Amino acid sequence: SRAWRGLIEEYRDRLPVSTDTPVVTLLEGGTPLVPAHRVSELVGCEVHLKVEGLNPTGSFKDRGMTMAISKAVEEGAQAVICASTGNTSASAAAYATRAGLTCAVLVPRGKIAMGKLAQALVHGAKLLQVEGSFDDCLEMTKKLAENYPIALVNSVNPYRLQGQKTAAFEIVDALGDAPDVHCIPVGNAGNISAYWMGYQEYAADGIASRRPRMLGFQASGAAPIVNGAPVTHPHTIATAIRIGNPASWRLATAARDESGGDIQAVTDRQIAAAYKLLAQGEGVFVELASAASVAGLLQAHEQGLINPGERIVCTVTGNGLKDPDWAISGAPTPVTIPIDAYAAAAALELA
Ligand code: F0G
Repeated sequence: SRAWRGLIEEYRDRLPVSTDTPVVTLLEGGTPLVPAHRVSELVGCEVHLKVEGLNPTGSFKDRGMTMAISKAVEEGAQAVICASTGNTSASAAAYATRAGLTCAVLVPRGKIAMGKLAQALVHGAKLLQVEGSFDDCLEMTKKLAENYPIALVNSVNPYRLQGQKTAAFEIVDALGDAPDVHCIPVGNAGNISAYWMGYQEYAADGIASRRPRMLGFQASGAAPIVNGAPVTHPHTIATAIRIGNPASWRLATAARDESGGDIQAVTDRQIAAAYKLLAQGEGVFVELASAASVAGLLQAHEQGLINPGERIVCTVTGNGLKDPDWAISGAPTPVTIPIDAYAAAAALELA
């Protein structure tokens, strides 16, 4: 086996690139598909986690960004811009700087996790905190990209979804076929749409014999697709998916309907419980939004939507280190001791 070359080289023949496309890569993709033993037991199925937090900037956004930035460079862009709940900005900042482009990002003030803010800043992005929601930021960003020479790298940029569809390819390549069910968090609704594209493409070309039922999960305080109407003031602890008017709404409902799947809401309580289950039951540290896929699987199982023994993949979209504040706030305060092994033994209840 040879070294992973990044997803554009690995899937070049399935992506809209040519020999003229300058490939901007941090060797993203090739993420592990980890068996989830505890979750499998709970639902009586074979459950795997697609651990996207192990991408170069710690989220699945890198799959879309290697494509968006490579194409932006090919098309002569000097600067890129995005709205973000955090991860897109972290990824855009890293790939833009690698390509020598200027990167501007608009984020909802006070609503993005600290690690993501740190990433955008350390990679040198021009970061503006907007006194509004992600949806407000996206509207502003679209206007700026229309009126100024700056390329939009949000998932409304079609190259983003092209890059992101490769996660579905990797899953089929690893399992030998598509799973029966795919569970995924839904925010701006690009990723569920991208996976569906990927699964459809592999099925159409006979590489997979079937297509999974797509189960998407929004946070209950930010569930416009479930409600059937935009949410003006979305709220959830899962700030990454705190979105009230998703850009890829129609693509996401098409994925749901064509696959015989569903898009449901999960509460913050369910998300927090799944976060803990993944951390303590599986040894997999994800961010809150990512845990929505597993919270949703448990809910779908309760509802009888999952058949015993089915093969299921849950995408866990981002790394737990993105949000140290949340991680620490839910954990016990560490005990402080003197330089004394006996004190350590006592504190550890070994003695
Ligand atoms: N999980 C994480 C960790 C995310 O950062 C996002 C989206 C999603 C899930 C939802 O994916 O938008 O394709 O439905 N984050 C975007 C951002 C909005 O700006 O980083 P989606």
